[in-house]
Amino acid sequence: MTRIAVLKGGRSLERQVSLKSGARVQDALERLGHDVVGIDVGHDLVARLRSAAPEVAFVALHGRDGEDGTVQELLEALGVPYTGSGVSACIRCADKVLAKHHMLDAGIPTPDFFAFNETAFKELGAAEALPAIEQRLEFPIVVKPAGQGSALGIKFAATAKDVPGALVAAFSYGDKVLLEHHIDGRDLAVSILDGVALPVVEAVPREENFYDFEARYEIGRTEFVCPAQLPDGVTARAQELALAVWRVLGCRGFARVDLMLGAKSGSLTVLEANAIPGMTATSLMPQAADAAGISFDELIEKIVAMALP
Ligand SMILES: Nc1ncnc2c1ncn2[C@@H]1O[C@H](COP(=O)(O)OP(=O)(O)O)[C@@H](O)[C@H]1O
Ligand SMILES: [Mg+2]
Repeated sequence: MTRIAVLKGGRSLERQVSLKSGARVQDALERLGHDVVGIDVGHDLVARLRSAAPEVAFVALHGRDGEDGTVQELLEALGVPYTGSGVSACIRCADKVLAKHHMLDAGIPTPDFFAFNETAFKELGAAEALPAIEQRLEFPIVVKPAGQGSALGIKFAATAKDVPGALVAAFSYGDKVLLEHHIDGRDLAVSILDGVALPVVEAVPREENFYDFEARYEIGRTEFVCPAQLPDGVTARAQELALAVWRVLGCRGFARVDLMLGAKSGSLTVLEANAIPGMTATSLMPQAADAAGISFDELIEKIVAMALP
């Protein structure tokens, strides 16, 4: 029996998802016979950690602070072992632009992109470069904040008219935004557990051009197929790329890598890596584990075991 603090909730935009992930993790840990204390992360986090004195913290947080290395830094400072990636990998995963640069440097394919801080537009007239960028990326262009998850702030711009509005929307989520080449194709995810790639999951939106925050977490609005029906070579390649991303970003414990399979090109490109993938009833990593014969409780137990000194 281990004394475990489950960190959940928090103040990020993904709070609700985290509460669901955290509740499920807590249930699993209790079934496994551990001594569990749930902590809704807020101003009193340090005090609550001190009084709970856990042997390990299960970080079931998503988004800002919880997944970007902030809470991990605090746990390092307090000397509390924690699940998942360390501070530096969390920082690299949480910033899509930084992650894409690491991928490019390592020769891992990722869609072409241009990324800017708000100051480029406010102080350097970057808007004047938009026609050149649009020509290079070709429409439709995907506009997204560098630092969000769960499809928050992502817009597909079909024409030049849509770009300014999409940029404003993305900048409302954070001060770095990327404009990315749109890949027409299939949405794949490869979860990794302890350096081993799990079966590929395909997310199939039930409605055309409909893939947003609500759709993801409402049961039935996106269909998930696992293992994804792909030629063997594509499955192997997707898993190989995901593992390459895992290594390059320095992940630990578990993670999930999102990819696109181009309809025309047939080639795979990596969109991003998630340091703390969702653990809700509809989340992809638990589905992938299940397809590999690993139950949810086993998955959670393994994640905890890897965190223990
Ligand atoms: N370049 C792109 N081409 C096509 N679809 C994309 C592209 N970027 C994002 N998407 C779609 O938006 C979803 C979310 O994008 P992603 O980069 O994984 O960010 P996050 O999951 O953090 O919100 C993807 O799973 C995919 O369906
Ligand atoms: Mg994603």
